Amino acid sequence: MAELDHWHPVLFADALGSKPAPVRVCEHELVLFRASNGKASLGALADVCPHRGMRLSEGRVEGGRLVCPYHGWSFAPDGEGKSPATPAARPCADAFDVVERFGLIWIKRRGSPVVFPTIDVSGYHLIGKTRHRAEAPLEVTLDNFIEVEHTPEVHALLGYPRERMAEVTCEVTSTDTSVRVVNEGPQKALPRPLYSLLQIEPGDTFVDDWTTWFSPVYTIYDQYWFDPATRQRRPNALRIVVFFVPVTAERTDIFALSYALVAPWERYGLNAFTYLLTRAFVVMELRRDVTLLGKLADKRPELRGRTLSRFDKPLGLARKRIETIYRGRG
Ligand code: FES
Ligand SMILES: [Fe+2]
Repeated sequence: MAELDHWHPVLFADALGSKPAPVRVCEHELVLFRASNGKASLGALADVCPHRGMRLSEGRVEGGRLVCPYHGWSFAPDGEGKSPATPAARPCADAFDVVERFGLIWIKRRGSPVVFPTIDVSGYHLIGKTRHRAEAPLEVTLDNFIEVEHTPEVHALLGYPRERMAEVTCEVTSTDTSVRVVNEGPQKALPRPLYSLLQIEPGDTFVDDWTTWFSPVYTIYDQYWFDPATRQRRPNALRIVVFFVPVTAERTDIFALSYALVAPWERYGLNAFTYLLTRAFVVMELRRDVTLLGKLADKRPELRGRTLSRFDKPLGLARKRIETIYRGRG
């Protein structure tokens, strides 16, 4: 098992129109195309023509086939090729498995036996779909997303206040295939309108309960609030699903699907402004993580030699599972 054997999101589905689109994942260059308008006709091929190496993403789609712009050889979504000048030839392009789900296009190595990641969002409303690129390796990018100690410094809204960080609890459990962390502590102060948007009160306790999986590498965050006096849960909750996709060894794409239990527009009436505002907050907070990651002086994934905190236990647990499950080593 190697990286590309797992399903990876690589593009928003609505970003793929009638033109082929190049994507890069795990150091591989691929071309995606729609053979027709139907969802069953997606193609994902290595972005290099088997004839003389032209970039297929420079080509066009015609009659359900991707046409190379150099000598006009054409390829079906399964890689089966034709050469107009030599009808007896049977060229073949490298094809990948490809599906469209959750508004994203996903690829994996053809025929690899992994199952599609489990993403249960039944009962939730989609509030945002975002993509950010971090200039950092997979492990180092994931590190930022699996500890909350950075939230007072880095985030404007998400997480815990600096002066009460010592009260925040951190409970870590793991299985062979997952790492779960539950953090609980006071919600940091928010701008007034956000309390009603999230349907919480100042002084509420914020729980961030998240589990990371490794085929592919992704984390599902369950975030909710309760009244610290009664431990009564507030009606709303967020479920944020974040996929970490290595583009190269030094660069990681972060695809986030954000959901809310109570859609803001249900409470306020259909309100595009509220929707856009919520989405803007998610984008802003993720951008802060990504900007910070780009500024790290030492981006080596090694943990040895570092001085780790009580919040950093998941980092080592995740490293092990990335090696065994995601990279298939050891
Ligand atoms: S290089 Fe693609 S058809 Fe010749
Ligand atoms: Fe963060």
